[in-house]
Amino acid sequence: MNPIQKETLSLSFPGKTPLSHIVALQFSDVHIGPGFSPHALEEAVRQMRQVHPDLYLFTGDLTGLRPLARYASFVIEQLHSLQAPLGKWAVWGNHDCCDSPELFPEVMRRSGFVLLENTYARLWPGGPVVGGVKDGIHSEPNLLLFQNVQAPFRLLLLHEPDLIDTAPANSFDLALAGHTHGGQISLPVIGTVVLPRYGRRYPAGLYNAAGGKLYVNRGLGTSDFPLRLGVPGELTVFHLCIPSA
Ligand SMILES: [Fe+2]
Repeated sequence: MNPIQKETLSLSFPGKTPLSHIVALQFSDVHIGPGFSPHALEEAVRQMRQVHPDLYLFTGDLTGLRPLARYASFVIEQLHSLQAPLGKWAVWGNHDCCDSPELFPEVMRRSGFVLLENTYARLWPGGPVVGGVKDGIHSEPNLLLFQNVQAPFRLLLLHEPDLIDTAPANSFDLALAGHTHGGQISLPVIGTVVLPRYGRRYPAGLYNAAGGKLYVNRGLGTSDFPLRLGVPGELTVFHLCIPSA
């Protein structure tokens, strides 16, 4: 089984209003199938539940090399078991768009996730917003999503990290992406061999982009080639100190 590494980040966003501390858990690029089996998902979900986050954030690509239909009921059962007081939020990945355009939204909905499709929502009245854009390879992501939004904190979900360069300056506080798998295979001396389209400028980790801070999760599963080497799968736990109203 691919090892899963839990990354923990503490990020502070000072503001004039009272501050809130929230814990957010990001997971990405499950690609359920040969490279990430139902058993591996069960283990990842077990680890996620131990964190007891305030919200779960999924940054796309649930679909793997085999049809999602084969795993749908098990995936729903697992993801539905995740509970968080501030909700469960998700965006499309490019594989979801091209391989499961009808089933993916149904699986997310039945798992209790809100699929953000160039839309946003408030975490509480007058409080932070969480928004998500459509996939950038098969759809039209709207990186102007928060343009006229007044909010003490703006959290943005997108699948392909390099799209963040099309967001206006200071247009969000924190953006979370996946898609790259951190390169999936990293060889000694040579390093990362292949990075996907729209995933080459920001391969993994924390960045200061023009629009705001960006974090790129390495994902859990694999695509194209069912092997990870030198790049463990990732669950990311964010301890956020943010303005609350
Ligand atoms: Fe992807």
